[in-house]
Amino acid sequence: MSDWPSHGGRPEQLLPRFGLAAKRCVIDFSANLNPLGPPSWLPERLAASLAELAVYPDPDYTAARQAIARTEGLAPGQIRLTNGGAEAIFLAAALLAKRGACRAVVVQPTFCEYERACRHYGIAVRHLGLEGESFELNGSRALDAMREADAVFLCRPNNPTGTLIAFDLIERMLAVGQRRGTTLVVDEAFIDFVTPDERLTPLLARYANLLLLRSMTKLYAIPGLRLGYVMGEGSVVEQIARLQLPWSVNAPAAALAEPLLEDSDYLQRTQGWLAAERPWLQGELESQGLRVVPSRANFLLFQDRRSGTMPALLEHLARCGILARHTHGFMGLDGAWLRVAVRSRQENAELIEAVVRWRTP
Ligand SMILES: Cc1ncc(COP(=O)(O)O)c(C=O)c1O
Repeated sequence: MSDWPSHGGRPEQLLPRFGLAAKRCVIDFSANLNPLGPPSWLPERLAASLAELAVYPDPDYTAARQAIARTEGLAPGQIRLTNGGAEAIFLAAALLAKRGACRAVVVQPTFCEYERACRHYGIAVRHLGLEGESFELNGSRALDAMREADAVFLCRPNNPTGTLIAFDLIERMLAVGQRRGTTLVVDEAFIDFVTPDERLTPLLARYANLLLLRSMTKLYAIPGLRLGYVMGEGSVVEQIARLQLPWSVNAPAAALAEPLLEDSDYLQRTQGWLAAERPWLQGELESQGLRVVPSRANFLLFQDRRSGTMPALLEHLARCGILARHTHGFMGLDGAWLRVAVRSRQENAELIEAVVRWRTP
């Protein structure tokens, strides 16, 4: 296991590696959060909910689940509120283990927590690698995985590549899994950033072997508050509910689910920002000779075609006050790529200026 931090967003863990002060001020491109920040009304609403700290939250989070159900076009019984997407991942693995699953396939390179969750519950993990320059999932290998394993985990759009596995391949995987008794667990933590809408939610009506995991911390920039949910067939979600720790979501976070989902203006502003900024940032990185993976998400994975240069760029950026995400620990990337979140135009321009200085010292 690498000694690099396994998640982004913690400058104090990375900066000392380069002899820099842990508390140095940086622009953080290493966590894929919405740079608009939490909606402007949120702090006041949160402060108001502090009055309810002395009361237990509803253990079933009924109001939040009803709000999610309205947004997703599902029944409230198909939804379980979770303490971020992270808890959703561990609940999915707990459910699989409870049903006796012992073999899972994880589509790689991807977020490390699927494998950690499976191992935690005693499920053996095999990897299925995305292929080629554009990190494609090979269709026949994916279908074989659905035949051979008890569960397949994948992330859509995928962290760290930003790529999106085609809807029709997912549906073919589900059909094979339905016959074989294999569950497909899809982490849609970044799906809100994808336009046009590519959610898999409609497939839940036809496939009881589909579990969808969501995070609300990326879109609404609230990773410190923790909010997410699992969606699946009603009886499956009922089993998940039995495995969940009581009151795992705190009341102020749960109370925000409904107003967050109703804030369509915030979603529109987010989509407008990303539609302008991602192509701009990608074009600027490419104009510096970097190879950028075409992304459908709010982050970009890139590398220099000259081998061995990315660790030096990571350090150079840190010295310029810019924190990128290293890729040590991502299977097959092994530090030879960097991932950056798309941020505001001014911040993106600062990143590009730093890359230009590296290119032409
Ligand atoms: C793909 C993916 N899923 C889930 C999570 C966990 O998110 P949350 O903050 O909602 O627990 C992350 C966090 O980085 C992630 O990248």
